[in-house]
Amino acid sequence: MKARIAVLPGDGIGPEVTAAAVSVLRDAAARGGHEFEFSEHAIGGCAIDAHGDPLPAETLIVCKQADAVLLGAVGGPRWSDPKAKVRPEQGLLRLRAELGVYANLRPVRVHPKLAALSPLKNERLTGVDLLFVRELTGGAYFGAKTRTADVATDETKYTTQEVERVARRAFALARGRGRRVTSVDKANVLETSRLWRETVQRVAHEFPDVALEHQLVDSMAMLLLTRPAAYDVIVTENLFGDILTDEAAALAGSLGLLPSASLGDGKVGLYEPIHGSAPDIAGRGVANPLGAILSAAMLLRHSLGLADEAAAIEAAVDRVLDAGVSTRDLGGDAGTREATAAVLAALNERAASKEAA
Ligand code: NAD
Ligand code: IPM
Ligand code: MN
Repeated sequence: MKARIAVLPGDGIGPEVTAAAVSVLRDAAARGGHEFEFSEHAIGGCAIDAHGDPLPAETLIVCKQADAVLLGAVGGPRWSDPKAKVRPEQGLLRLRAELGVYANLRPVRVHPKLAALSPLKNERLTGVDLLFVRELTGGAYFGAKTRTADVATDETKYTTQEVERVARRAFALARGRGRRVTSVDKANVLETSRLWRETVQRVAHEFPDVALEHQLVDSMAMLLLTRPAAYDVIVTENLFGDILTDEAAALAGSLGLLPSASLGDGKVGLYEPIHGSAPDIAGRGVANPLGAILSAAMLLRHSLGLADEAAAIEAAVDRVLDAGVSTRDLGGDAGTREATAAVLAALNERAASKEAA
């Protein structure tokens, strides 16, 4: 097959981890006889420096015309002055909105070899297999903002239509897994959460084969640490999803491991690891590339319909972790390149053993 993939490396470790993900995608293309055309474009702080705009018009046009977008990370201390009018993160938020990718899928699994890295007791981590579905284009991130010297506001707004579509996505995904959805809100305080809960409850009637429960976000933050294996699909609003998924990364062992796919009703999907630009380790070749590589696997599955190729990459990552190859965030000493090479070698071995069989 032919596919156009827009690559937006961004800032900090973004270019290091996207290079790793692209090499794995090139490998998948070569192996499967696919033609992937990659093009790199600016976003975030480096786009502010070069074009004065965190999402230059050219980047947006190419992304809209692509089959999929692979993104590294944006932001960093250079562009973080609280008084700055233009910020790298605005470019990412605008891209998500412009692509209409309202459902952000963030799977969290715990590899047995890494359970020891988690601050939780190992027995609590057995069987953890979560899929967060984070609403991505609404809520506090996109509401009106006001600011005077002493007063600031960020409006949180949700419409039933915005909740319905992300809830349907969560229920549909639950059908392909454990058939359980936990909807997370703050309905005891927030009006937007009461609308959220009523709407999710209504959508649930369309999916009688999927069990629904509601949790308040404060207690969910605790339950994620005490009973993480008890949950399947967790659907929640934009801000709660941002916070809970970084918390869930501590179950997996490192923020550097978690991938994401952002999907809407249009043809373009956006794929990015959930971590940021990690300014503290940028430019040193030590970033963990596995979150970006697993995001590339999600790209193959969700945008290109290449489920087998995606599963092969996920299995290769598992084997690399089984073999004890780990970057510094996982307590090892492999660099970004070594870890990427190990994934490519695992893919190669698998292909060779399949041929032999
Ligand atoms: P961060 O995710 O960049 O880093 C948090 C910690 O995790 C750091 O210690 C970092 O070294 C570590 N870490 C993250 N990814 C890693 C990887 N792949 N390998 C090894 N270690 C890794 O969060 P932060 O420091 O709060 O934010 C830095 C900047 O990134 C901010 O400007 C923020 O807005 C931005 N950010 C961007 C995205 C994105 O582009 N999607 C996501 C989150 C944060
Ligand atoms: C993420 C990031 C972004 C978010 C920032 C950089 C805008 O934290 O993708 O999780 O809050 O959505
Ligand atoms: Mn985040």
